[in-house]
Amino acid sequence: MAEDARVICDSGALVSGGPGVRFSVPAAGGDAPAFVVRFDGKVHAYLNRCAHVPVQLDWTDGAFFDYSKLYLICSTHGAIYLPYSGECVTGPCTGKRLVPVAVEERGGQVLLIKDIHDV
Ligand code: FES
Repeated sequence: MAEDARVICDSGALVSGGPGVRFSVPAAGGDAPAFVVRFDGKVHAYLNRCAHVPVQLDWTDGAFFDYSKLYLICSTHGAIYLPYSGECVTGPCTGKRLVPVAVEERGGQVLLIKDIHDV
């Protein structure tokens, strides 16, 4: 697995409820934008694509959490997502989910696990 992993960022770059780190993942039509955040100590990554309309979520680069730092929020129409599952719990796409991206935290780094992600 290690040879198929790519470093996204150092672990210290992600604080629970803080700014996320944007990156890209290989996809059928070219690289797709994605992001990783830390919530409740764990890292979670998703395609940076709202489940309502396929636009990127962040207000400004890396701003994925709402003011409470408990939920991810889409800057376009305000859909609210659970950071640990990607489920939309409030907004125009309630019940839908962000597309998860396989990441792992190891050795002080956050890694993209390329071989098990298929967009
Ligand atoms: S585009 Fe995200 S809530 Fe509409």
